[in-house]
Amino acid sequence: MTSRITGTGSCLPAEIITNDDLAQVVDTSDEWISTRTGIRSRRIVKGESGASMAAEAARRALENAGVSAGEIQLIIVATCTGDLQFPGTACVVQKEIQADGAVAFDLGAACSGFLFALNTAHAYIQTGVYQKALVIGTEVLSKLVDWKDRSTCVLFGDGAGAAVVEASEEGLQGFVQYSDGKKGEVLSCISRPVENLIHRKEEGTDYRTPVSDYLTMNGQEVFRFAVKKVPECIHQLLDQTRTRADQVDWYILHQANSRIIQSVAKRMGVDEARFPMNMDRYGNTSAASIPILLDELNREGKLARGQQIVLAGFGAGLTWGAAKLTW
Ligand code: COA
Repeated sequence: MTSRITGTGSCLPAEIITNDDLAQVVDTSDEWISTRTGIRSRRIVKGESGASMAAEAARRALENAGVSAGEIQLIIVATCTGDLQFPGTACVVQKEIQADGAVAFDLGAACSGFLFALNTAHAYIQTGVYQKALVIGTEVLSKLVDWKDRSTCVLFGDGAGAAVVEASEEGLQGFVQYSDGKKGEVLSCISRPVENLIHRKEEGTDYRTPVSDYLTMNGQEVFRFAVKKVPECIHQLLDQTRTRADQVDWYILHQANSRIIQSVAKRMGVDEARFPMNMDRYGNTSAASIPILLDELNREGKLARGQQIVLAGFGAGLTWGAAKLTW
């Protein structure tokens, strides 16, 4: 027994911010952003929340799978931008979609979040604990970026994607997952500081002193990490599942940057056409990027039953990994 994705859904905020719009507020240009990242526009919330987008993506995925909310036993929401400290976004989604029989919790692994959540749901399903799950990635990165910092604000966007995952004879064949906490500082964002009766926030509370209240990143370090570790872990997964790189129909990677994806394709000797991209329209939506792209391909009819698909995520933590599945 394994787990199979039987339906997908996504939800993007209505508001579109183009590179030219950003050039009005920071010293940048469409040419600089698009040549270095492949990003031309992104969506950002205006009224939507992480949970409202997640719930809508979940409804669409359930409809696509032909599964009712009442049948769902497990909801995992991957997010690093929850609307509330608690309850978790997954519990809000459970309420919104009336999945009263589900256990619901959040999982935080930044841009690898959807992949790790899918693997977690798979582990529950494979061991027979649950049969039907909803795996969701939802992010509101627009609240974590400093809109005055041109080196980061041009990269990210908001959105949500979801997948219904069910017990099946065919589906997920294997996965690999990694973390390297020692490199955590290359991409991080501080949470609420500790400030209480006996400790002032200025005294520092963390293993590192925050340099900003917003997301901070060493772009070149992150770039180097991604182009090395992603092909490495995909190769390992292909060995594990006894597959040649050219036998995979689609490589669906986290949509951070087109140059990272092009470099992975080149290092693997695989035609770039097998690495679909949509960051030109949505930017980097962190845990939401893989399920949003999966849903687009699914609804465009590009995914055929029996096709071999590799999903790969990478991001803050550092975290990275890949999963291989039969569609
Ligand atoms: N517009 C115009 N100029 C910008 C800019 C912007 N939005 N952002 C930075 N610059 C400037 C820098 O200030 C620097 O100027 P200087 O040479 O005068 O100091 C110059 O462009 C080069 O900056 P650098 O950081 O070296 O650029 P880069 O070629 O490394 O590209 C990234 C920056 C962020 C696009 C690139 O490092 C990257 O894509 N990294 C991966 C990031 C990522 O994907 N993170 C998420 C992973 S989940």
